[in-house]
Amino acid sequence: MFRNPSMLCRSLLALAAFSAVISGAFAQAAASAPPPTVYVKAGHLFDATSDQLRDNVVLVIEGERIAKVGPAAQVAIPAGATVVDLSQDWVLPGLIDCHTHLESRADKYDPINEVKDTPFMGGFNGVVNARQTLQAGFTGVRDLGSQPFFAVDLRRAIDSGYIPGPRVVASGPAISITGGHGDMNGFAPGVENMMYPAERDFAIADGPEQVRHAVREQIKYGVDVIKILATGGVLSLGDKPGAEQLTYEEMKMAADEAHRAGRKVAAHAHGAEGIKDAVRAGIDSIEHGSLIDQEGIDLMKAHGTYLVADIYNDDYILGKAIEFGLPKENVDKEKMVGRLQRENFAKAVAAGVKIAFGTDAGVYPHGDNAKQFHYMVKFGMTPAGAIRAATSSAADLIDRSKDEGTLEAGKYADLIAVTANPLDRVEVLEHVSFVMKGGKVYKDELGAAQAVR
Ligand code: ARG
Repeated sequence: MFRNPSMLCRSLLALAAFSAVISGAFAQAAASAPPPTVYVKAGHLFDATSDQLRDNVVLVIEGERIAKVGPAAQVAIPAGATVVDLSQDWVLPGLIDCHTHLESRADKYDPINEVKDTPFMGGFNGVVNARQTLQAGFTGVRDLGSQPFFAVDLRRAIDSGYIPGPRVVASGPAISITGGHGDMNGFAPGVENMMYPAERDFAIADGPEQVRHAVREQIKYGVDVIKILATGGVLSLGDKPGAEQLTYEEMKMAADEAHRAGRKVAAHAHGAEGIKDAVRAGIDSIEHGSLIDQEGIDLMKAHGTYLVADIYNDDYILGKAIEFGLPKENVDKEKMVGRLQRENFAKAVAAGVKIAFGTDAGVYPHGDNAKQFHYMVKFGMTPAGAIRAATSSAADLIDRSKDEGTLEAGKYADLIAVTANPLDRVEVLEHVSFVMKGGKVYKDELGAAQAVR
């Protein structure tokens, strides 16, 4: 077709020129509709890149991301611009809870619900719980354990704008040994198989090869993170929080398989031996960490493993035990771990173990997540440290530092405001007045977004 090479060259050049015209036209169309620019005036900004506040700052938001953060004196706000006036308030990054169960309700506890509710109930719960969590100022969660694949679908529903909620880092069902914390114990043989055989396929694993299969299956269906159950638990029946469940070899398999696929692993672990084997196996975060000993603390420091300790839970569980008719076995186990968990958390903090904020919301009501800040400060953290556990450190743990966790140019415009200084009294975070996620306002009790210049 081409008589000589130069003709081929010329044709290619013409094609290139043509596509340049086309893409130029598209660029022009895009340029005529730039993402809306919003100027957020922050009286006091905690951007979570340090422990300090800065006064009188303006954040320039273009579309869903932050374009610029600068001193008010240096950022010109054009006449007619859209302004969010938080000039009397304290502005922080949207909070991140690294341990939630958005599928679960906390206003009832009865193991029999497991055989009464269909999976649809979890879906309804998720819609309500996601909204409550976002309204409380949590623009991100890592959801750690639900029926397959609730959290993956929830992430999709929220990301597509169908329902309001936090950004979700999704796990599948927690991987458990037979008879372990994630199994349905206390029923006659066979009941659990009648219920959700598919769920058991994804969650119950004995031996490294079954763990490998469960991890691979979960990844196939879209999870972002793997949750495993290293030890027994409090709110399960027939097992002991202090006792190791998955073996070192099983946990090593989970860590290796997940890491190969670019996923992290979170291990529920109350007991000291289970914690240490999980850390040695390369698990990325220890959830609960209640009975950790000095050797475990040293190991976590050496490996850079995060501790995600739900140290508010004890109040709620024991406070509601009678009303909910919580079985004596669970009450006794909670009494055994509750106080020790807080004391051991303080030791880990003092030793410099990395801490990320995570509450096990779902055990207590969604939306009350921030009640845990009080305990994190009471047990050894500074208010700034506790806030960074729920922002910059949380984003690091969940692998979202590129997009979330601090207020800097390039990150998502996920921010909240409170009307008093959280560095003086961290409890002010229990009453968040303003919530923006991805540049969109989801809560504005202050009328801050009404100000248009
Ligand atoms: N999901 C956890 C378990 O059942 C809750 C532990 C709550 N207690 C506590 N003190 N953090 O083991």
